[in-house]
Amino acid sequence: MSESKGSTRRSFLTGTLAAGGTLAAASVAKAAGGDPAILNVQPWANELGDGVDAHPYGMPTRYESKVIRRNVPWLTADPVSSINFTPLHDLDGIITPNGLAFERHHAGSIAIPPHKYRLMINGLVDQPLVFTLEDLKRFPRYNKVYFLECAANSGMEWRGPQLNGVQFTHGMIHNVMYTGVMLRDILAEAGVKTEGKWLLAEGGDAAGMSRSIPMEKALDDCMIAFKMNGEALRAENGYPARLVVPGWEGNMWVKWIRRLEVGDQPWEQREETSKYTDLLANGVARRFTWQMDAKSVITNPSPQAPITHGKGRTVITGIAWTGNGVISGVDVTLDGGINWHKARIDGSSLDKSMHRFYYEFDWDGKPLLLQSRAHDTTGYVQPTKDQLRAIRGTNSIYHNNGIQTWAVNSEGEAENVEIS
Ligand code: MTE
Ligand code: CO
Repeated sequence: MSESKGSTRRSFLTGTLAAGGTLAAASVAKAAGGDPAILNVQPWANELGDGVDAHPYGMPTRYESKVIRRNVPWLTADPVSSINFTPLHDLDGIITPNGLAFERHHAGSIAIPPHKYRLMINGLVDQPLVFTLEDLKRFPRYNKVYFLECAANSGMEWRGPQLNGVQFTHGMIHNVMYTGVMLRDILAEAGVKTEGKWLLAEGGDAAGMSRSIPMEKALDDCMIAFKMNGEALRAENGYPARLVVPGWEGNMWVKWIRRLEVGDQPWEQREETSKYTDLLANGVARRFTWQMDAKSVITNPSPQAPITHGKGRTVITGIAWTGNGVISGVDVTLDGGINWHKARIDGSSLDKSMHRFYYEFDWDGKPLLLQSRAHDTTGYVQPTKDQLRAIRGTNSIYHNNGIQTWAVNSEGEAENVEIS
């Protein structure tokens, strides 16, 4: 802990001196003296605080009450088939707290009593089986941190900038640690027949959400999870059990999972024919576009999180992720892509998990055109929105991983813009 703090401090000083600055130029704090907030004894230091019985289940302090999921009213005509968004501009690190993980449901969030929960495996198997939750917990358990991104994340931005906030443009993503069992272990118990090449995953909610998953993926890294960040899944995220399909579009991560059918071909369900396909300019639709490609966005500053400290030392931060594995680097530009700088990735760099990046610089108070660009270990580079449109046209909703631009004015306020 102290070691990493020390090295951060050293690189901070080196960076400042190398940039030709002086130590004074990098100073971010006021000289001591005169500030009543430090000179006076504050009320909270004069009275006793809450006892340990005040918060049997801890909640955030009242001073953080604005850190909440939000929806976009015009997208939420019907709240049971809708979406809310993770407040990315208020978060740091790589883990999304459970109470802030965005929700997407097509028929509302349901409450399944755990003792009534069942998961069936049928179809091309030696022995159809029904598992209780307790049965599932008797298989070897694994802990994995994965991002879940809805295929429609940034979908409203296909034709141009619309939503003024990173929560709304990019907030259909969360990154949590799942505890669960490997799909391959429970499929082995039922015995998949050799002609079993596909799996239908079906949800227990009224939407009956169902998707076809190729068997190679199911046997590779898919999980049935019952915990997120150590505690039971939240009802809205699939309690008591959900499917985890690492790196692939959120729609396949079936919540309240009730049935897995093994088959020899895909089922062509509504969610993979009329929805979750990408209509190209020539009228042909891309189908089974499962993987989420490398993407990044600056979360601070952004429209909901302006620079409030004026000129001088400023920290830019954001997130990057790829369904291809691991992010190998993130570049940041302050001038709309004329000069790119290497950002610093900090926190764990895990397979198909969110990465956190920082870029520290001395702001001269002049307007900025901020962008970030992610690279992954396959050599893939996050495209510009124009590059995406050149290939995919403008009919799409899903799989918009184009580079986001924030225009920051001299007051530090940020706005969603596009440059070409
Ligand atoms: N599973 C069921 N049973 N019903 C649903 O409506 N929505 C899907 C998927 N799984 C859905 C579902 C979609 S579109 C997404 S993006 C993810 O769940 C969202 O997961 P979350 O609510 O945990 O964020
Ligand atoms: Co979705």
